[in-house]
Amino acid sequence: EPGAVLDARGRPLRDLRISVTDRCNFRCVYCMPKEVFGRGFEFLPKSSLLTFEEIERLVRIAADNGVEKIRLTGGEPLLRVGIEELIARLARLVTRDGRPLDLAMTTNGSALAHKAQALKEAGLTRLTVSLDSLDDATFQAMNDVDFPVAKVLRGIDVAAAAGLPVKINMVVKRGYNDHDILAMARHFKGTPHILRFIEYMDVGSTNGWQVDEVVPSREVLRRIDAELPLEELAPNYSGETSVRWRYRDGDGEIGVISSVTQSFCQSCTRVRISTEGRLFTCLFATTGHDLRLLLRNGCSDAEVSDFFRNLWLVRNDRYSDLRSAQTTWRSSGVSAGSDAGSRRIEMSYIGG
Ligand code: GTP
Ligand code: 5AD
Ligand code: SF4
Ligand code: SF4
Repeated sequence: EPGAVLDARGRPLRDLRISVTDRCNFRCVYCMPKEVFGRGFEFLPKSSLLTFEEIERLVRIAADNGVEKIRLTGGEPLLRVGIEELIARLARLVTRDGRPLDLAMTTNGSALAHKAQALKEAGLTRLTVSLDSLDDATFQAMNDVDFPVAKVLRGIDVAAAAGLPVKINMVVKRGYNDHDILAMARHFKGTPHILRFIEYMDVGSTNGWQVDEVVPSREVLRRIDAELPLEELAPNYSGETSVRWRYRDGDGEIGVISSVTQSFCQSCTRVRISTEGRLFTCLFATTGHDLRLLLRNGCSDAEVSDFFRNLWLVRNDRYSDLRSAQTTWRSSGVSAGSDAGSRRIEMSYIGG
């Protein structure tokens, strides 16, 4: 494509993920463990957050540089006051060739029953809902705030009824919820919702990630295929994180996201902006680039755009590929790897 902005590894810029709040009402053990994100934890003050005007401006500049897909994340994005207003602003923006942006959101679903209709009306394109189990005891052991499964399922139904396509994300952590893989598959089989199984990743530095807690996607697929035969599908687009599979009986689709055992950095088109406006060129980056400073110092659109584009042009990140290379994959699972000592950015801050 002429004029595409390519990074140092030839990867085009396509997706922008923005964390709109670092807060969440869940304390998922793999993301915001209670011991760290407890009562005393200091979240960002309101003045640190990018305003809606600032986010809109950055999205417009990103779209001018080739971004076509925006994902609002957090934290829990539905906790950001007035989120519908932000969506409505972003829904008016267009890609370089004049098409509307793909406007997605990743949410824990807890507030969807109330908010789904307003999100749809504001112009959201689609939703991804995190749900790690169908069993209350297991789900509560993952979210750690006693949140019931039924409320999330209800949120999913309300969103679907409002006309929002919904995908479901299940992070699989061995010994926590892997016994629920088949039940989740069965539950969503025959619905239009695509369930995706995600390998537990070593993001951040607080979840105490251990390699033997990762359930490799091939094991997930083997377990499902034994009961509900599967066949692989071609990707929807180049750089898709999820590998698609469908049930041989034609009754639906699932996906696996194998960032640990089959990293996908070669085709990574994603850039992230944190809650306070730092740009990260990789989920595992240790330092961000302060866009908020530029905005608040009165830089012109052209100056911000140049800064943004230049960061992409020199981008060379491929963390997951490198981690895979230094990890030994044993037939029983996985072993060693991860540079646990280094301080990485938390996912709730940078955005899933
Ligand atoms: P679609 O737009 O529907 O294809 O979704 P997506 O692939 O953007 O998926 P989603 O935002 O639901 O991300 C699913 C999960 O994949 C995330 O929560 C992460 O666990 C993982 N993931 C997404 N992007 C990256 C990435 O750039 N690097 C790594 N290592 N993992 C990622
Ligand atoms: N590993 C994999 N995915 C994670 N998420 C958060 N933490 C992790 C992790 N350690 C993802 C999940 C969740 C989204 C908000 O972030 O997909 O649905
Ligand atoms: Fe909240 Fe999502 Fe992190 Fe769970 S994974 S603590 S729901 S941001
Ligand atoms: Fe992209 Fe970094 Fe994830 Fe690799 S590890 S896919 S470069 S965000």
